[in-house]
Amino acid sequence: MSDATGTTASVATDNIFDVQNVTMRFGGVTSLNNVSLQQRRGEILAVIGPNGAGKTSLFNCLTGVYHPQEGIINFHAAKHGTVNLVGKPPHRVNHMGVARTFQTSRMFNALTTFENIKIGVESGQKTGPIGAMLHSPRMRREERESDHRTLDLLELVGLTHRLNTMADSLPYGDRRRLEIARALGTNPEVLLLDEPAAGTNPSEKLALAELIRTINKETGTSILLIEHDMRLVMSLAERIYVLNFGEVIASGAPAEIQQNPEVVAAYLGVTEDEGDV
Ligand SMILES: Nc1ncnc2c1ncn2[C@@H]1O[C@H](COP(=O)(O)OP(=O)(O)O)[C@@H](O)[C@H]1O
Ligand SMILES: [Mg+2]
Repeated sequence: MSDATGTTASVATDNIFDVQNVTMRFGGVTSLNNVSLQQRRGEILAVIGPNGAGKTSLFNCLTGVYHPQEGIINFHAAKHGTVNLVGKPPHRVNHMGVARTFQTSRMFNALTTFENIKIGVESGQKTGPIGAMLHSPRMRREERESDHRTLDLLELVGLTHRLNTMADSLPYGDRRRLEIARALGTNPEVLLLDEPAAGTNPSEKLALAELIRTINKETGTSILLIEHDMRLVMSLAERIYVLNFGEVIASGAPAEIQQNPEVVAAYLGVTEDEGDV
């Protein structure tokens, strides 16, 4: 059954994402060429590939920032049924259950940790400007709920002790955790993380990996991860897709990917220091 928005009522698949033949061009540049990818519900899936391979473009297509010229991006939401996300604006995609963090930090620097997360939580709430002006009972209830939810998220990402710290004075690793908490505030079914460990030190990396695992286990959120640190990817991901020049050149379990000659040539042969950061 379909309604006017093209959503269907039932979810008859174990996949959360079913991306089919997506092509994204910018003038003469093809950043994604006929990319197909499936993510299982609840899975931690990684996308790797050299700088410029099209990883962020893929995330932009999955979140409504880019509208690919060709292909289908079926999102099988438990809440809303199946939706083709192509052409949907980012805020709608987010409301349907897709949240993301960005490769470079996008925080409200002059707000506290608590306030930054609360913005994520409140973006999903229903009270409009009239309700807010009248200070309606629903608004007061939502306010209490969003405070509780924000505190829960602070605890989940280990930032309770930084509740009143301005975002711009947080240590770098904590900023990355804050971004994750803010994205989780929108209650996503799938969380897209674009290089969450970039620029962090080895102990922060380990802690981030642990956090991603915890989020996946405790909230059941599917995780789609772009990451350059191979140890992190290999230890976290259940499956990996490899992009090179906008094309999927391999997919499979970490052990298969590590042994794939084409992948080694395109990417893994590059040492960490030579790889992009
Ligand atoms: N908005 C855009 N306009 C023009 N070219 C773009 C745009 N976004 C991405 N590209 C191009 O697409 C290619 C892939 O970029 P990107 O998706 O950022 O790669 P990655 O995240 O794997 O490093 C690059 O050649 C990049 O210049
Ligand atoms: Mg990128």
